[in-house]
Amino acid sequence: MTTPQEDSKKQRSQKLAALPLREELRGQEPYGAPQLTVPAMLNVNETTYDVPADVVEAITEQVRRAATELNRYPDREFTALREKLAHYLSRESSLEAPLSAESIWAANGSNEIMQHIFQAFAGPGRSVLSFPPTYSMYPLYARGTYSDYIAGEREEDFTQSPESVAQQIRAHRPNVVILCSPNNPTGTALSLDVVEAAYEAGEDSQAMVIVDEAYGEFRQQGTPSALELLPGRERLIVSRTMSKAFALAGGRLGYLAAAPEVADALRLVRLPYHLSAVTQAAAEAALDHSQALMANVERIKTQRDRIVSELGEMGLDPKPSDANFVFFGGLQDEKTAWQHLLEDGILIRDVGIPRHLRVTAGTEEETTSFLESLRQHLAAESPRAAARG
Ligand SMILES: Cc1ncc(COP(=O)(O)O)c(C=O)c1O
Repeated sequence: MTTPQEDSKKQRSQKLAALPLREELRGQEPYGAPQLTVPAMLNVNETTYDVPADVVEAITEQVRRAATELNRYPDREFTALREKLAHYLSRESSLEAPLSAESIWAANGSNEIMQHIFQAFAGPGRSVLSFPPTYSMYPLYARGTYSDYIAGEREEDFTQSPESVAQQIRAHRPNVVILCSPNNPTGTALSLDVVEAAYEAGEDSQAMVIVDEAYGEFRQQGTPSALELLPGRERLIVSRTMSKAFALAGGRLGYLAAAPEVADALRLVRLPYHLSAVTQAAAEAALDHSQALMANVERIKTQRDRIVSELGEMGLDPKPSDANFVFFGGLQDEKTAWQHLLEDGILIRDVGIPRHLRVTAGTEEETTSFLESLRQHLAAESPRAAARG
């Protein structure tokens, strides 16, 4: 017996199959984690604290002002926004040589940033190399831009060595390399010698090297940003987003820093006026309040470190994390653990790696309920684990 919803889904998929769709899209599922409203939503690495009231006020006021001019197209150079982003990044990473506004490009989330980069530097007959397990959108950007995707390899503990990264780049000669640091889903950060080695190894194939630092603000003390390596490296791109540390996932603002000519290349592929006046206004107001918005980063890092330490005490295998989430293994069955947590109102992420799950570090209360629920699950599974916990 099928339900009416299942019947209607089947009919839609038959109708989709009848469309003259690109062959490589047939049978594919759209990207997207479950969007469920439950008390603790810890599955997509958002900041779970609300946007502070004074920042809501400031964003509302700036958007209100922008609304009076919505009859006009927005500033397609988003000049004021680029200036604020350059200023913010230079301060956040204590850069010796401050970035100029010309080195900045922005788009609707860092997903669109990546799409621009692929459109300009990858494409038919060109290839892109990244190192799974990593952000699962990378192969999809490749598919969307008709680029070949090459899955590189990392060490068993998910780290990457300069030698191995350089050797794989020399072997594959990709046009674009993506390093994700801290890496999603494992939380692993890269040392700068890995980025330097990737850049040097990419000299032969003139590879553009992207360091995706979507979670950069959560890095452990002493972990540097690849922004420091930008001077003199015109094929290097550092990508960031306001979706994570800025608590602005709904605002859709991603950005990058690179040589000014990289931004010129991306101007060739962006759609006209791709950043709406409303987006620009909201992001500018948020940047004016970056300190207030970022106040929760330290609290989130504390919960992240607490998760790593308590999961270890439970006998699980949490990976060290420089991000706002923790990836952990050692589960008997990740699907039943995920389901148990969901039944307790806690949504975390099954990233498709057996015996592993990923959880976002939320507020102290959310973290406590996650840890308690998981502890109960482990105790029910194995009374010996309960004695240990
Ligand atoms: C590593 C990484 N890069 C990029 C993104 C895209 O973020 P956004 O498009 O919201 O900026 C994400 C989102 O989770 C991510 O994990």
